[in-house]
Amino acid sequence: MDTSYRVNQIKKSAIHEMTRLSKQYDDVAFLSWAKPTSGTPSHINHAAIDAIHKGLTGGYSQSDGLPELREEIAKKLNRDNHIEANVSQLLVTVGAVEGLIASVMAVIDPGDEVILSMPTYSTHITQVRLASGVPVLVPLREENDFALDIEAINESITSKTRAIMLCSPNNPTGTVFPEDDLRKLAALALENNLTIITDEAYEYFVFDDHKHFSIASMPEMKGRVISNFTFTKSYAMTGWRIGYLHASEEMIQQIKKAHIPFAICAPVVSQYAALEALKGPQDCIDEFRDHYFNARNLMCERLDRMSEIISYNKPGGSYLMFPRINDPRGKDSLAFCKDLLDKVQVSATPGIAFGPAGESHVRLSFCVSEEMINKAFDRIEKYFGYSN
Ligand SMILES: Cc1ncc(COP(=O)(O)O)c(C=O)c1O
Repeated sequence: MDTSYRVNQIKKSAIHEMTRLSKQYDDVAFLSWAKPTSGTPSHINHAAIDAIHKGLTGGYSQSDGLPELREEIAKKLNRDNHIEANVSQLLVTVGAVEGLIASVMAVIDPGDEVILSMPTYSTHITQVRLASGVPVLVPLREENDFALDIEAINESITSKTRAIMLCSPNNPTGTVFPEDDLRKLAALALENNLTIITDEAYEYFVFDDHKHFSIASMPEMKGRVISNFTFTKSYAMTGWRIGYLHASEEMIQQIKKAHIPFAICAPVVSQYAALEALKGPQDCIDEFRDHYFNARNLMCERLDRMSEIISYNKPGGSYLMFPRINDPRGKDSLAFCKDLLDKVQVSATPGIAFGPAGESHVRLSFCVSEEMINKAFDRIEKYFGYSN
């Protein structure tokens, strides 16, 4: 059967390839999954069960989401993101990814260019391609803690550029782009009439003196930003598939035209769970953040012991880092990850999965237990010939 160019152009993901290969071994030390390993907090589970028992979950909701959930989201955006939001500027989505693809579909036409900083979450690149757009990948400045290269972004703008897609805190580098740089990016968008599509999945996981900044909080950016958020990371709700986006009321009406054929509405049982997540106790977010902070520090300590072979930028946020492997045996990150898995059963994600600038790197997740980090690093040291 013939299939579309739209899907044929999309290469098999190196992440899924590593997951498939990992299944050959019984005892793998996983540092390759970017999903929270803690379970969803029990008060959230119970709220969903209650909603089922009350018979609230068998039908569709409004396609933009339950009004009471949007009320709570609006409060959260005003309080935590300083975004002036009301319920008509919100769309509840099937995780952040459905919101992101619906946003891209609403903003670009075939052949339009979207600027992304690289390395970035590979799904964003795929989403632009699926919408028949052209991803324009501008490298981050690795030598400067993977900072945005505002000058290079400016130079890459053409008459076909429609949007900039931005992920902060960044997957895979863990960079929290500072407010100053985001203001410069916003100025570029204003000057060139571009939309900014943000992915703020890791908004609460920022460490040290880093601060998360939402571009949509800038009054002059009203109507220019589509901000995507998720419950997946903040409340360990990966499998519930629930997120939301904020944009102008007019833009929401347009994005909804893509959202409906993708999803009709977000899963209703998950919307009730999300409602409880926002209304209930928030300590889980602090607990997750404290855990990731300690896990990041442990991972950095373990990496410091191998500084001749591995260099890294300390991530200011997310639960991911993106070290460079200076292994004289070769630079192909997929071959390196396969060899690491074969020889010592450690699963890491090849940097190439995040764009060509990711080559020679691996992505390591520290959303795992400290035992798992120590187990993986004991093995990595063995791989590189360090005596433990
Ligand atoms: C940057 C980023 N955005 C979105 C997602 C997925 O979010 P959701 O589960 O809400 O679709 C991930 C998951 O790893 C991610 O890292």
